[in-house]
Amino acid sequence: MELKQDDIIELTAEKLVYSGAALSHYEGKAVFLENAVPGDKVKARVLRINKNFIRAKILEIIEPSSHRIKPFCPLFNACGGCNLQNVEYDFLISQKQGILEEMFSPLASDAFKDVEFKPFIKADVLKEYRCKVQNAVSETKVSKRLLTGYYKENSHEVVNIKFCPIQPKIIDEITGFIRENWKMSGYVERTNKGLLKHILIRYSSAEGKMLLTLVLNKDFEYFNKIKSEIEEFACALAGKFPQISGILINFNPKKTNKITGDVTELIFGEDFVTEKLKSFECAENGAEPAEDKTQGTPCEKPGKPCREFTYKISKDSFFQVNPKTAEKVFDALKAFVEPNSYILDAYGGVGAISIFLSDKAKKITLVEESESAVNDAKANFKLNNCENYEVFLGDAKEIFKTLQKQMQKQGKTYNAVVLDPPRKGSDKEALEIISKLTKKIIYVSCNPSTLARDVKILHDLGFKLKSLQGADMFPFTHHIESIACLEKQ
Ligand SMILES: C[S@@+](CC[C@H](N)C(=O)[O-])C[C@H]1O[C@@H](n2cnc3c(N)ncnc32)[C@H](O)[C@@H]1O
Repeated sequence: MELKQDDIIELTAEKLVYSGAALSHYEGKAVFLENAVPGDKVKARVLRINKNFIRAKILEIIEPSSHRIKPFCPLFNACGGCNLQNVEYDFLISQKQGILEEMFSPLASDAFKDVEFKPFIKADVLKEYRCKVQNAVSETKVSKRLLTGYYKENSHEVVNIKFCPIQPKIIDEITGFIRENWKMSGYVERTNKGLLKHILIRYSSAEGKMLLTLVLNKDFEYFNKIKSEIEEFACALAGKFPQISGILINFNPKKTNKITGDVTELIFGEDFVTEKLKSFECAENGAEPAEDKTQGTPCEKPGKPCREFTYKISKDSFFQVNPKTAEKVFDALKAFVEPNSYILDAYGGVGAISIFLSDKAKKITLVEESESAVNDAKANFKLNNCENYEVFLGDAKEIFKTLQKQMQKQGKTYNAVVLDPPRKGSDKEALEIISKLTKKIIYVSCNPSTLARDVKILHDLGFKLKSLQGADMFPFTHHIESIACLEKQ
């Protein structure tokens, strides 16, 4: 009998795929099951039948996988954030490694022949690691109670989150205080009415301080009417939580998917936080130093010499969400850099990678399109005693064109180009220019699909993918960070 939607079938989950679903088979056809752990034997309802695959939903677990664990978050089923919190951690890491190896197998493309897969970088910290939090705000229909949290999966319904185990506890306390003490209204998307739209927090793991932004559904002109009330609230908040080093008000009356508007007002403290990252891949630890290795500050933890770098991060600047795993990722990429190198750090943000590499670099060129990040990067080079650097503000592809002309004139190339683009990856034209500027590309990616696409483009431009290493920037989610090293043949 032909299979139909809503039929109930028995399945065994085989392995995880990149989306976080588990792959199973029914009469030879691939079935993707949400929330299943490889090894689970389940009864499932057929949701959709496509030409090449079926989507199904678990109705009953007949026999749980030995790798299935109890999620540590009580909102696991409602929130949808940490979608793999029901999978035992080491097993999950081996699954992520398998996903990478399959995506970059020679079966997928000729561009992936003879790649060295390095062991997956595990996260040392599995809870309270998330240093950037963006909570949506709403209010209940009748009692007008404020709700703060994340949207339920595939919806804009705010799940009220009082406790989130992956963010520092202090953030739960602060959002709790806002829920209890905010006397004005919360935003209701359906009617596009109500005041408080989002709560944004950037937390410094090094200092325990944070920058708080309240996003309002009003423009700046309206601010005068509520200024005293907002300032009184900010005063109470900052008085109760000395960990808050700055409070910003952002004005975003537009009904768009963009969380923040263009205008921001500082109403308390400073408009940035300071984060610190430690590098163990440093001269004190045996790595060959650059001529001048005074960048950052020397430190010793845990028992191993290291160098600590300091970063100023403003509200609109990107910084890695998980600083502890970021340190490991940056050390892994630093190992590919030769001492006294000329380095181009494209998509450079506030200079997180540039400065991390500075004790091995002769000169660093940073390219970044966000003005806020570029201003922070300039401050950060100074903060870390880096002298030989240049910073370009603008679209990477356009700046690469300028750099190509400059380098051609001087007859020079970069010893290494670091690419760390956003999820959508780089750009064909940008990669074509890069391929003429260096013999080594170190690509850091938060999206293996766009990384694979870009590696194929670079392969056609004469580069060979030498090694690939996964890293766990977002434990218990399907996300995979990767470090790829490519060399010109
Ligand atoms: C994934 S972040 C990496 C930042 C930095 N490497 C770090 O680790 O903190 C990507 C950065 O690329 C910047 N960016 C995005 N598109 C860009 C473009 N077309 N040209 C230049 N920079 C861009 C973003 O503003 C962001 O700072």
